[in-house]
Amino acid sequence: MTKNLPNYPDYKNAFSGEQLPFAWIDLDLLDQNIHDLATRAQNTPIRIASKSIRCRWVMERILETNKQFQGLMCFHPNEAAFLASKGFDDLLIAYPCMQQQAIKEACKHVKAGKTIYFMVDSIEQASLVSEIASSENTKALLCLDLDMSVDFPGLYFGVYRSSIRSPEAAVSFYKKIKLLANVELCAVMGYEAQIAGLGDQIPGKLIENPVVKKLKERAVPIIAERRGNTVAALKNEGADIRVVNGGGTGSIESTISEAAVTEVAVGSGFFAPHLFDYYSHFQHKPAAGFALEVTRQPRKKIYTCSGGGYIASGSSGDIKLPKPYLPKRLSYIKNEGPGEVQTPLKYNGKLLNIGSPVFFRHCKAGELCERFTQLAIMQNGEVIDHANTYRGDGQCFV
Ligand SMILES: Cc1ncc(COP(=O)(O)O)c(C=O)c1O
Repeated sequence: MTKNLPNYPDYKNAFSGEQLPFAWIDLDLLDQNIHDLATRAQNTPIRIASKSIRCRWVMERILETNKQFQGLMCFHPNEAAFLASKGFDDLLIAYPCMQQQAIKEACKHVKAGKTIYFMVDSIEQASLVSEIASSENTKALLCLDLDMSVDFPGLYFGVYRSSIRSPEAAVSFYKKIKLLANVELCAVMGYEAQIAGLGDQIPGKLIENPVVKKLKERAVPIIAERRGNTVAALKNEGADIRVVNGGGTGSIESTISEAAVTEVAVGSGFFAPHLFDYYSHFQHKPAAGFALEVTRQPRKKIYTCSGGGYIASGSSGDIKLPKPYLPKRLSYIKNEGPGEVQTPLKYNGKLLNIGSPVFFRHCKAGELCERFTQLAIMQNGEVIDHANTYRGDGQCFV
């Protein structure tokens, strides 16, 4: 099922009926990524991280392709309510929220029979869910967010997420939750972002790459022990923990090797944005991107596109820029980069003219869909469908 990567004329022909700019999915490559991610996860169920997709059509396709994909990991209660209203179920909200109306909307779907987990790491969040679930006359499931960062001497290796960092802290929190009405703690999630989202083969980082690899090797057993001990301690205290979620695209192998884990979360690997090109142990296919129109040529070998400044979130740096993809050998003008309304590119080839498309890959996965209302779905050299993104659905959650 391996497909060669397309070249510029392939994409130019396939998308010739699209109005520029547009965002695209190469369905042949997406299907291959779906297959390869399932293979990497062996038999462990995969929860789809919606944050890294933000398009219902794509999430439906993944869920339909293989029963190993089960449930969605959302990022806001309003999103969970929206997805529930569109027929999705088994929705784990990976981030806490203190917005009453949003929690209420999600609770209404719980009452109607949907399975939704609310993320908590403090009593304030859990108490609010309890109050709202009580007023809606339903019971809400809670998921404890276990922090997975690791403190090495002089180095904090990880991200700042949850305040719960140990089995003892988890048990003490669980004891408080037990006193609340209409909630049940039945899930634990730990997101080891420093393993899942950090490449170890980044171009130009000759010194950092081996250091990152070593740090990951040292952190993995610490993470496994913390997650395993926390789940065991909670169960020992009487909690019926049925879901233990971990990981992301870059950590599938280490996450599934933990005995306590019941499912792994995966999002970015489906589209495989260019940030995910830089891992030594897997390579997914560039299945999504956007195309801009060359609208002028200010000098020989300089081609200026309309739009393009879609910089990815997080710590800043050149790596967060979209990557000019096809035709090959395009580069930015250092002082301008991809701009708010235009993007000049250096190109010393024969494939571009005024009016031509240029294909780019976003640095991160789901953020592409915040820029476009639709994705042009291409299969076998033809556009076969157009799918609304969340933006196209008129939705904006955070
Ligand atoms: C809490 C959490 N877990 C897992 C993931 C999945 O990560 P990735 O998109 O790198 O596969 C994400 C991000 O989407 C996340 O926010």
